[in-house]
Amino acid sequence: MSMKLPFFKSKQTDTEINDTTIENIPNHVAIIMDGNGRWAKKRGLPRIAGHKEGMEVVRNIVKASTKFNVQILTLYAFSTENWKRPKSEIEFLMKLPKEFLHIYLPDLIENNVRIDTIGDFDALPEHTKQAIQYAKDKTKDNNGLLLNFALNYGSRFEIIRAIKKIMIDIDGSKISVDTLDEKTFSQYLYTQGLCDPDLLIRTSGEQRLSNFLLWQLAYTEFWFTDVLWPDFNEAIYQQALLDYQQRKRRYGGI
Ligand code: FPP
Repeated sequence: MSMKLPFFKSKQTDTEINDTTIENIPNHVAIIMDGNGRWAKKRGLPRIAGHKEGMEVVRNIVKASTKFNVQILTLYAFSTENWKRPKSEIEFLMKLPKEFLHIYLPDLIENNVRIDTIGDFDALPEHTKQAIQYAKDKTKDNNGLLLNFALNYGSRFEIIRAIKKIMIDIDGSKISVDTLDEKTFSQYLYTQGLCDPDLLIRTSGEQRLSNFLLWQLAYTEFWFTDVLWPDFNEAIYQQALLDYQQRKRRYGGI
């Protein structure tokens, strides 16, 4: 998307970019929100304190995404591998969506945000599902930012699931092997109908994908920062967007 927007004034920073303009905003930003545990440990707090703080940052980054005119924000909130964590931490993480929505849903509605999820939704605890389903229903007609939580999401699981669905549809003659192509395959993924992420951000210094959107990130620009997720803010987000704007995307061409 090529557009010029006035860059809003940030309260959190006095960097030079505030008074300039911004072009080529990524349509779709995906974020691996990493480092909550380390943030808490550094402060002598339990890991869940990092997740709680991380939840507040989610709200700030959603707000900033709307201001920046990002269309889709996909946040990796819980992976299929995160079930390996201690039970108490999992329980806390599963309560966070409800808490987040309890506090912020009215504000999100007012800001025209639509809420959706990708991942194995059915396998989530009932209370988590209920809170999210309520928010999905309440925001389904909104046409502002799509806030897409990857919850109980794993990319390999998603791909296998897609293959199984495709095989069933081939069996039922809904599609044929001959016409199966990348576009059709994409329609069997959780991200069906969404454009691929233009920009992937990962916080906390780790530089890996951790089973996140393996298919969808084929041509995405990656941006890594050492900042831990609870310390991530609008100003750092701006830096990621400005960096993205310097990139030349060639999609294999010249
Ligand atoms: C990774 O950090 C973070 C998670 C597995 C959870 C992310 C969740 C949030 C940021 C809150 C989500 C909010 C809502 C509204 C759903 P880590 O715990 O692996 O950190 P570490 O690598 O430092 O241990």
